[in-house]
Amino acid sequence: MNSDTDTLTYATYLKLEQLLDLQQPKSTPPEHDETLFIIIHQTYELWFKQMLHELDLAGVRFREGDLWGVSTVLKRVRMVLKTLVGQIDILETMTPSSFVSFRDRLDTSSGFQSTQFRELEYRLGIKREETLKYMPEGMWGREAALRRFEEPSLVEDFHQFLKMIGIDLPDDIDVPKERYQGDLRVQDALIACHADRPDLDMLFETLLDIDEGLQEWRYRHVQLVRRTIGDKSGTGGSPGVKYLERSLFEPAFPDLWAIRHRF
Ligand code: HEM
Repeated sequence: MNSDTDTLTYATYLKLEQLLDLQQPKSTPPEHDETLFIIIHQTYELWFKQMLHELDLAGVRFREGDLWGVSTVLKRVRMVLKTLVGQIDILETMTPSSFVSFRDRLDTSSGFQSTQFRELEYRLGIKREETLKYMPEGMWGREAALRRFEEPSLVEDFHQFLKMIGIDLPDDIDVPKERYQGDLRVQDALIACHADRPDLDMLFETLLDIDEGLQEWRYRHVQLVRRTIGDKSGTGGSPGVKYLERSLFEPAFPDLWAIRHRF
């Protein structure tokens, strides 16, 4: 039987004491908005963790050929992404002058160094080689991100699944390490599926939702950056807005986008 001290409570189960001690502003005296800045980023990292957890399960369900299971998991990822996009509204209540009051304290720390965000991109198959250089040796999370860079992405899991359930896909689809550019033969097969396998429609649309969700996040983030620091460089050393604009429309599932005019 548990003694009083180890009875599980809301606080001990969630480790609230530790969790609520993790918001430590760098500014002295603490600038009011720095707490928001820290909490938002920590919240994002938790949601990144959850999405990676789900996207790993999506891989399992794809390999099992479980259409219902994979659709359920991907729908959850889609909803988390929607929540992430919505949270930008909160940070946009912070004015440029308020951000400036503690920005110097961030030093060279930057979203560039979010290794979980990189894991997410890599898991989806967006493996821009230039992003590897933002994770120098010894950086926390680097190994996990590099592992994802090497591992098959969700796009490859998706192709395997389609083959497994009898969709006629070629065996020599070129998925380069960095990024899959799409394949006309896959697009033909997807169009055929819309006629012969309407049960797959929802899966295709959910994958497209996830792709669009990440693009929505990129758009809201770059606009947040534009309104908060304008054309200043980032704390991570990039040209800021100009750098972020480059990846605005990078799709993970180019084939699903390429066929839209063929219906
Ligand atoms: C005032 C708020 C914010 C500003 C001014 C800002 C600024 C920037 C800038 C300038 C970059 C480019 C890299 C650099 O040179 O530093 C960047 C990248 C990034 N930021 Fe933010 N950011 C803000 C909020 C956030 C939030 C809330 C997140 C959530 C995790 C986030 C995640 C990222 C990620 C993941 C990247 C890398 C994007 C990529 O390489 O494609 N940022 N941010």
